[in-house]
Order: sequence, then C-alpha cells, then structure tokens
Amino acid sequence: CGIVGIIGNEPVAEEIVEALKRLEYRGYDSAGVATLENGHLDRRRAEGKLRNLEARLRSAPLVGKIGIGHTRWATHGAPTEGNAHPHATEKVAVVHNGIIENFRALKNELAGEGARFQTDTDTEVVAHLITRELLAGRDPAEAVRLTLERLEGTFALAILFDGDEDLLIGARRGSPLAVGHGDGEMYLGSDATALAPFTDRVTYLEDGDWVVLTHAGATIFDSLGHQVIRPTQRSLATALLVDKGNHRHFMAKEIYEQPEVVSHTLAHYIDMSEGLVRLPGDLPFDLADLKRITICACGTAYYAGLVGKYWFEKYARLPVDIDVASEFRYREVPLEPGGLAIFISQSGETADTLASLRYCSSEGQHILSIVNVQESSIARESETSFPTLAGPEIGVASTKAFTCQLAALACLAVAAGRQRGVLAEDDERKLVQALIEVPRLMSQALKLEPRIEALAKELSRARDVLYLGRGLNFPIALEGALKLKEISYIHAEGYAAGELKHGPIALIDEEVPVIVVAPSDTLFEKTISNMQEVAARGGRIVLLTDAEGAQAAGDQPFETLVLPQMYQFVQPLVYALPVQLIAYHTAVFMGTDVDQPRNLAKSVTVE
Ligand code: G6P
Repeated sequence: CGIVGIIGNEPVAEEIVEALKRLEYRGYDSAGVATLENGHLDRRRAEGKLRNLEARLRSAPLVGKIGIGHTRWATHGAPTEGNAHPHATEKVAVVHNGIIENFRALKNELAGEGARFQTDTDTEVVAHLITRELLAGRDPAEAVRLTLERLEGTFALAILFDGDEDLLIGARRGSPLAVGHGDGEMYLGSDATALAPFTDRVTYLEDGDWVVLTHAGATIFDSLGHQVIRPTQRSLATALLVDKGNHRHFMAKEIYEQPEVVSHTLAHYIDMSEGLVRLPGDLPFDLADLKRITICACGTAYYAGLVGKYWFEKYARLPVDIDVASEFRYREVPLEPGGLAIFISQSGETADTLASLRYCSSEGQHILSIVNVQESSIARESETSFPTLAGPEIGVASTKAFTCQLAALACLAVAAGRQRGVLAEDDERKLVQALIEVPRLMSQALKLEPRIEALAKELSRARDVLYLGRGLNFPIALEGALKLKEISYIHAEGYAAGELKHGPIALIDEEVPVIVVAPSDTLFEKTISNMQEVAARGGRIVLLTDAEGAQAAGDQPFETLVLPQMYQFVQPLVYALPVQLIAYHTAVFMGTDVDQPRNLAKSVTVE
C-alpha cells in the first residue's frame, strides 16, 4: 500500500491524489483521502483504481489544507469502499501500510469496552486505540506513543487529528516512511518518489521511529520515545511521471527498452575498452575467499537469482544456496560468518527480502544487493549495493528490471570466476564479448514479435500452458510461466524439462500448449528428448531455439521461433524477451489490464 500526508497552506486533496498516483505500483484495489474541513475530519474513498477516487472528489470535493491519503493492496478485508483507508473515528483518521498481527485480540478488547467497528480491517483498531487514549485525556503524541506500544507486526502509519490543523503523526515499523521538508509545508510519503513533486529534501525514518509534523517542521522519536535526529538528504527521485511513449502499455515499452537499458547496466560493470569486467567500487570482502553464496529474492527477481546460481556454480565454482525470501527468512539457516548474501529486488522494498537481508546481516554475512531503486530500504541497508540501470519500471509484471538484474549478476559471476582462478583472462574476454553482444541479440529477438502475436491468439484459448527448460534456461521457463499467469490469468507451470516425466506429463493432451526453451547448447539433445515425449502424447509444442536447433528438431513442433545463435552463457538474457512477448500478446489478446493485473502489486511491502 502507499501512504501520503501533507500539512499545507492550500487545499491538499488534489496534491495527495497526485502523490498517490506515484505510489499506485504498491497497490490499486481501493484508495481514499481525508482532510480537515473547518477543523473537522472528512473523507472520500473509492473501490478500484485511483481514477474512481478522482471522480468521487470531483463530485464532492475536499478543501482541507491538511490531509492524508492511501492507495491499497488488500490484506485484511475485501477491497471494498468500506474497507478502504483512511479509517476514522470521530477523533482521528488513519492510513496504514502493513499488517497489525495482534489486531483480533485488540479488537476484542476495544469492542468489550464499547468501541463500534465499521470494517473488517486491522487498521481500524489503530484508530480506536488512539481514540481511547485521547478520550482518557492524553495529548495526541502520547496517545500515539501508547498505541504503538500495543501494536505487533510491521507497518507504516499516518494519522490526522480532528480539530488540529497543525499536526500529523507518522510511524514506521518494518514498512518504509519518509518525511519531506517543504517551505512552511511538511510531507509524509511511503517513498521519495511520492514526495518528488513537492520537495527533494527527504528524511528517511529508521525502523521503530515515529514523527510529529507541524507546519514548522518534524520532531522524530525512536521506539523508546527518545527524541532523535535523522539526516536530511537531497533525494534524486525525479518529479517527472514517465509516460508510455508510442506504446500501448508500459509493459510493451519496457520490453522494448531492454537492448538500451541492459547496455547501460553492462556498461556500469564492464570496462568496454579493455573488454573485461570492472565492478563499480571495491568490495568489502574477497571473492576468492568465499566458500558459498546465499541468494534471496521474490518473484521475478528470484528467477534472476536462480540464473545467477547456475552462473556462479559453473563459471566461478562457487556453491550457491538460493531461496524465495518468504521461506528463507523463517528457515533459521545456519550461516558461516564472513559469507556473502545477495539480495535482488527491483523496488528494493519487498518486505520478505528486506527481512531476509536483516537476518543475514545479524548472522555476520556480507550484504550485497542488486536493486533498481537506489534510495530504497534494501539499497540503504546493504553493505554494497549494485544498481540495475533499468530506469523506472511501471508495468507490474517485471521485464526490463529482470534482464538488468541478469546483466549485473553475469558480471559479478565473471568477476568471481576470474578472482578465484577458475577463468583465465582469455575466458573472461570471451564471456564479456558475449555480454557486449547481448543488446544486439535482444533487438533481433524482438523482431519475432509479429510471429508471437499470431501465436498468442492460439495461446489465449488454452486453459493451461506448460513451459520447459533445462540448465540456464530452466529459470526462463519458470519466468515465462509466471509472466503468463500474472497478466493473462491463464494457468501456467514452468518445469525443469527432465522432471516432466515425474508428474506434469500427465497433463499433456492436444489442448495443452508446451513451450520449450531449448537453444542448441550442451543440454539441447536432452531437452529435445523431453520434447519428443510431449509430441508422442499429442502435446502442441512451441519451440524457442536457434537455426541449428530448429533443424535438429525437424517438423515436430507446432511452431518454432528461431532466435539468433549465441554463446550459452548469455542465453537467458536473450530468451527472456520472446517469453515476455508471449505473455504480453496473450494478455492483450484476452483484453486484461496488462500494466495493473488484478490482485497484484508491483511492490509487496507486507509479508
Ligand atoms: C511483485 C511483483 C513482481 C516482482 C516481485 C518482487 O510480486 O509483481 O514483478 O518480481 O514483487 O519484487 P521486487 O521489487 O523485490 O523485485
């Protein structure tokens, strides 16, 4: 969810909505704004996208000069208008990101005392707790402090008080919250991007902090209630909202940007004139001394990590333990001090990834992150943070961030291979040359689009689709299936080709398209045998390969998409693109909301 708060000198509702638009990537199930109208709380809320809230505000404007707003990704309670934030009593209005884990116990307690609840949300208990303290005669800051003591879970909050036009209180535990400093105006926001149109002077709250804002400034307290000073920084977040250019969707634009942004990312990690990897800055550890690496991420970033595992193991002889962050964080993994843990995240705000980072940090690991948003929590809490230079990614389904993550990981794996004496300088040159060719190969792969569009029409009739791949292309099969699920809502599974006969082959009939990612490499023959097992059972095969592979496969596939020949090392970077286009065109054909698919959020800041 996304949070905004403004103490202004002019009506703030419109500005709040503008800031919320910049946070819509965090969720778009419902949205709301509350301001003080002649000193009294009033709010407007709407189900669905922000445009519904805008329409509501047009017909019934809010004119208050102080307010809070929220765009929601539902956790407790359906995404209805009634459950939309802000939640209010007669005394306070609250917007909240995160989960109050002990809300049932608190709700029972409050209801027992006569509090009347209007929603199914966990947030409403916060409003009632603060109200109880206010009614007991405490001042607002004390009421919030006592309330925070009662809350369990991770959250960020912004609170508006009836009758006080010069007070907003924010709190952060687990979920990010930033304070923006204006000229006689103050702001709260989930990230610096939301605040960018108003100010570039930003203070990030630390975990457990809470803040009292007035027109005059901010007073910050830590979790023990001591007043603290946190640094104010110049934010680099841009005030410009990116647009779609000539593309119909952000996702299409982002797919097409890949040759360019991957080339930028590679240039950051490669000395182009030398043809060798050059990591930006010195690492605080020696790659040659590492015994193993731990990689953690979620969703698409996890699949990038999985490709990284194959690279580190093969080219640097470094064992890698990889897991999705939601599992890793609770596994109680024993880690040898001095090891390296790598966290991959587009947004840099994914709650599970951040929690895993903190676990590894407490276990004495070196922390390296690969992130697209430089000012994010994950970047800030890392010992070393490597950027992906993908630029803002707006489509909820990740595309260009993924291939840029791969580019950074590939360079890191080569650097490790070299420093560990696995790769000679000549080997490094060959691998780097292969990477330098990637943007050109990507542009060629994008030329398959008309064929893919025709194919998508067929796929859109499918109930299930299977994706198969081996080795470096196994994660691409997983990513292909994830992309298709996310945006077309067709059920899809990615499988290691060799695992087919251990279950999924039972699904195969003439109705199930099987997408096989099999460039002609050392594993080609094996994958093709698995493909034949599918063909023998009437499965409709779509083969992604190169000219050599197409010839070897003969006319068995229903459709063959031929990509350029390339070095095995870089295949995942290039084969990702047709796989993204397949999902994109299938979704367009089905008429789904490609950039903001149902139930998803771009950045998942709750666990
Ligand atoms: C969400 C997004 C995915 C993304 C994942 C991890 O599920 O919809 O596209 O891969 O979160 O996000 P991160 O920002 O950590 O890469």
